[in-house]
Amino acid sequence: MPSRPAWLVMADDLFFYAPYNAPHMTQPTQSPEMIPPEMAIDLRNVQFRWRPKMPLVLELPQLEVRRGERLFIKGASGSGKSTLLSLIGGVMLPQAGELRVLGQQLDRLSAGERDAFRARHIGFIFQMFNLLPYLSVIDNVLLPCHFSANRRESVRSKGATLHDEAVRLLEHLDLSASLMQRPVTELSVGQQQRVAAARALIGNPELVIADEPTSALDADRRAGFLKLLLNECAAQQATLVFVSHDAALEKMFDRSVHLDEINRAATAQPQEA
Ligand SMILES: Nc1ncnc2c1ncn2[C@@H]1O[C@H](COP(=O)(O)OP(=O)(O)OP(=O)(O)O)[C@@H](O)[C@H]1O
Ligand SMILES: [Mg+2]
Repeated sequence: MPSRPAWLVMADDLFFYAPYNAPHMTQPTQSPEMIPPEMAIDLRNVQFRWRPKMPLVLELPQLEVRRGERLFIKGASGSGKSTLLSLIGGVMLPQAGELRVLGQQLDRLSAGERDAFRARHIGFIFQMFNLLPYLSVIDNVLLPCHFSANRRESVRSKGATLHDEAVRLLEHLDLSASLMQRPVTELSVGQQQRVAAARALIGNPELVIADEPTSALDADRRAGFLKLLLNECAAQQATLVFVSHDAALEKMFDRSVHLDEINRAATAQPQEA
């Protein structure tokens, strides 16, 4: 069952970074040496349904993603891809099964600890971007750094200021300097998508989760976007879990998984084309 009201999950991702459990936010939930090196994601016998008495959306016997691996996930609309990413990101907990992310068993953490864990370790590019409308482009990109000392430190350890690192990422994503001080509400959808990517990447999170991040980009920008994402993830040895319908991108990944093929609940679900 979702751990928080659905409107909060769907409306925006403020709770991903902000005051929901602010006192926990800068507290590390796990020391790096406790994280086993081999698996970024280790999922066993996970079951998830959105509400009691509703059919299972996910019934996954197993999914393992190695550290540093770049995994492409595809599947029909409505098959549960975004739901799976929300579980991996600790937004919600499965009703059954075990889910370890970066060595941390997520159901052993409170909601506040999961928020802190996510802020520290995971860069999340949402299908709907979930940028904060009252912040500028730069401030949106910097948001994770406000809630994770680790991500701030990671930027500073490169010898960069937070602002400079945000600008570097945005420039790599081909977002012009004149746009950076603007409210995000004045940006096109494709521009907002690139801001969301920069926000996910800042501070070198170990795991980057991207939910159809290229759907609003034209072909040129899509290639540039994916190149940056892959380069940044490789440079920081981050694991990348990338959901897309765009089969042309699949070959750029180490491995691809069709969700319907690993999800036993899929056979019971009506599928769209
Ligand atoms: N907040 C919610 N409450 C109840 N059911 C939901 C909610 N979000 C999604 N679902 C249902 O869960 C199922 C999986 O949805 P999900 O968003 O994970 O699919 P998806 O594979 O990401 O689809 P798409 O490719 O269209 O983004 C769908 O049947 C959907 O109707
Ligand atoms: Mg989706």
